Amino acid sequence: MAKNSGRAYSLGLSNQKGGAAKTTSAAALAAIYGEKGFRVLGIDSDPQAHLSLQLGVDFLREETLRGTVSDLYLGKASAEEVTVHTRFQGVDLIPASVDLAAVEINLPGMTGCDLRLRRGLEPIRNLYDLIILDSPPNLGKFAVNVLNASDFFIVPVDGPWGLRSVDTLLTLAQDNAAIYNLPTTLLGVFITMGDRTRIMQGVREEAERRFPKHLFKSEIRRSTLAREAAALETPVPLYASDSALAGDYRSLAEEIATRMGL
Ligand SMILES: Nc1ncnc2c1ncn2[C@@H]1O[C@H](COP(=O)(O)OP(=O)(O)OP(=O)(O)O)[C@@H](O)[C@H]1O
Ligand SMILES: [Mg+2]
Repeated sequence: MAKNSGRAYSLGLSNQKGGAAKTTSAAALAAIYGEKGFRVLGIDSDPQAHLSLQLGVDFLREETLRGTVSDLYLGKASAEEVTVHTRFQGVDLIPASVDLAAVEINLPGMTGCDLRLRRGLEPIRNLYDLIILDSPPNLGKFAVNVLNASDFFIVPVDGPWGLRSVDTLLTLAQDNAAIYNLPTTLLGVFITMGDRTRIMQGVREEAERRFPKHLFKSEIRRSTLAREAAALETPVPLYASDSALAGDYRSLAEEIATRMGL
C-alpha cells in the first residue's frame, strides 16, 4: 500500500440493512490504515453515533468537542473545527451525536441538501490519505450524503436480507452520481458474519453470481470478539490483533487498497 498524495480518497460503507457490520467495519478499516501510517479521517453520519462510540468519542462525555457532524450539515462549523483526534494512531474523526436525527428533518429544505457532506469535507481533503464514512441503516438523506461524498463505496452483506437491499442502493448511488456528476463507484461487496451455515453458503453463492466482479475474496467471519471490541470502544484489529477476525479485516483492507490504487 502506498499513501495517496494530495487529495484523500473517500470510502463509504453503505447498506440500508441494519446490523450488517457497517460501523464495525468502518472502525476496523480506519484502525488498520491508521496503523499503517495513513492519515485517516472517519465520518460518523448516523444519529446512532456508533462509529463515534466505537472509536472512543462519546459526545456526552467529551467536553473538548467543538461540534459534531450536525454542525457541518447545518453549515454552522467547518470540517476542521469539528474534527477530533481519537486515541488510535492516525485516526481522526468527525463525530455524530443523537441531535443529528433532528437535522435530517430540516435537511430536505436546505440548498444543496444532498451534497452538504461532500462540500463540507472539501477543504480538509488534502489533510488526509483516506476518508472513511459510516452510514445509517436507511436510504435517507444521510445515506445519500455519504454516497455522494464517497469516491468509492463498499457494501457489507450479513445474510440474505442484506443482499436483497443491494440493488436499491446501487440504483440510488448511480442516479445521484448522474444527477450531480459525481465519481461515486461501487468498489465491492463483502460478506460479514460469515459462518458455515447453509444460509451463508447460499448468500456467498448468490453474491458471486450477482456481483462476480465486485465480491471481495476476503470474508469477515462471525465472532463474539466484534461485540467485545465494541463494548470496550476499540476497533477489532486493535482489541484482538492476533485474532482470525482481525486477520479477516487486514486481508479486506489489502484488497480494498489494491482496488482503490492506494
Ligand atoms: N463479525 C462479526 N461477528 C459477530 N458479530 C458482529 C460482527 N461484526 C459486527 N458484529 C456485531 O453485530 C452488531 C451490528 O454490527 P454494526 O453495528 O457494525 O452494524 P451496522 O451495519 O453498523 O448496524 P446499523 O445498521 O445499526 O448501523 C454489533 O453488535 C456488532 O458488535
Ligand atoms: Mg452502524
